Amino acid sequence: MKETIKKLVEAWGPSGFEHQVRALIQAEVADLADEIRTDSLGNLICRMGSGGARVMVAAHMDEIGLILTYRDDKGFFRFSPLGGLIPDSLTGHRVRFENGVTGVIHREGAFRRPETPTLDEFFIDLDDGNGGSAGVQVGDPGALFRPYEERGTRIMAKSMDDRIGCAVAIEAMRRLKAGGDIPNEVYFVFTVQEEVGVRGARTAAFGLEPTLGIALDVTATADTPRSPNRMVVGLGKGAAIKVHDLGLVVPPAVKEMMIRAAESAGIPYQLELLAMGSTDASGISLSGSGVPSGCISIPCRYVHTTSETVDLNDVEACVGLLTTILQKPIEL
Ligand code: CO
Ligand code: ZN
Repeated sequence: MKETIKKLVEAWGPSGFEHQVRALIQAEVADLADEIRTDSLGNLICRMGSGGARVMVAAHMDEIGLILTYRDDKGFFRFSPLGGLIPDSLTGHRVRFENGVTGVIHREGAFRRPETPTLDEFFIDLDDGNGGSAGVQVGDPGALFRPYEERGTRIMAKSMDDRIGCAVAIEAMRRLKAGGDIPNEVYFVFTVQEEVGVRGARTAAFGLEPTLGIALDVTATADTPRSPNRMVVGLGKGAAIKVHDLGLVVPPAVKEMMIRAAESAGIPYQLELLAMGSTDASGISLSGSGVPSGCISIPCRYVHTTSETVDLNDVEACVGLLTTILQKPIEL
């Protein structure tokens, strides 16, 4: 599974430009699903099983990034964010474009200015030394790049949000396939444009009309020095079962179904109460005439930086919990 994770997190796919990630996932799941298609927004929809509950499982393929808006005559660009870039985390980082060219993000005088910067203060250096910008132009999207690394059971990368959710979905598909008949009609949807406002999950859910929605996404933790988060989630404490975030109040029946599944299979879990953000589950829950929805969250430190850190044991717990839920008839 680590190889799949490394491939996914190092892939390039800012919101709205998920095609490279989609091709990778399509290759991974080709032999697992009963039916695969891509919808008009670019969501990859993979069906497994039939009968029982119609479940939409969503993990988003996109990562936060940026789009170039203006070039000066020396090859320095300005940009708009695609998703929640954290200005504090950007100085000195590298941005990769689809043609493979790398730019450097910088903000002048960062040494002398301790105040929190705004995105307007940054520029991207794409000067190629020959008066050009190496084929990169205004309108091109970019994504921050940093390679995958491991430290014991902790793994670090850019775009764990939400390629780790995609990896959990793929691994659950492998285990369901190996386990034989699936008593539910399960749609694994690898969604687009979550980071710019939960867009792909909404249209996919409108089309599929599921009876249950389950998102797979990262959640913040409160286990770092001086964390301001009013929550208990920490790395290594198991799958996080969402109770609430700013976009979703999980119906008690969905939360309790997940807790029962975790306890029956002896899977470590923790309850997630997140005082910020939302996930594909909020989009699914409000689609059509409404869909009961919940979320299995992968605890993650430093969300929306290039060093998003998760624990492999938590990842395993999330795969185990999702597989346990889907391989039996679902009762809410
Ligand atoms: Co995110
Ligand atoms: Zn996410």
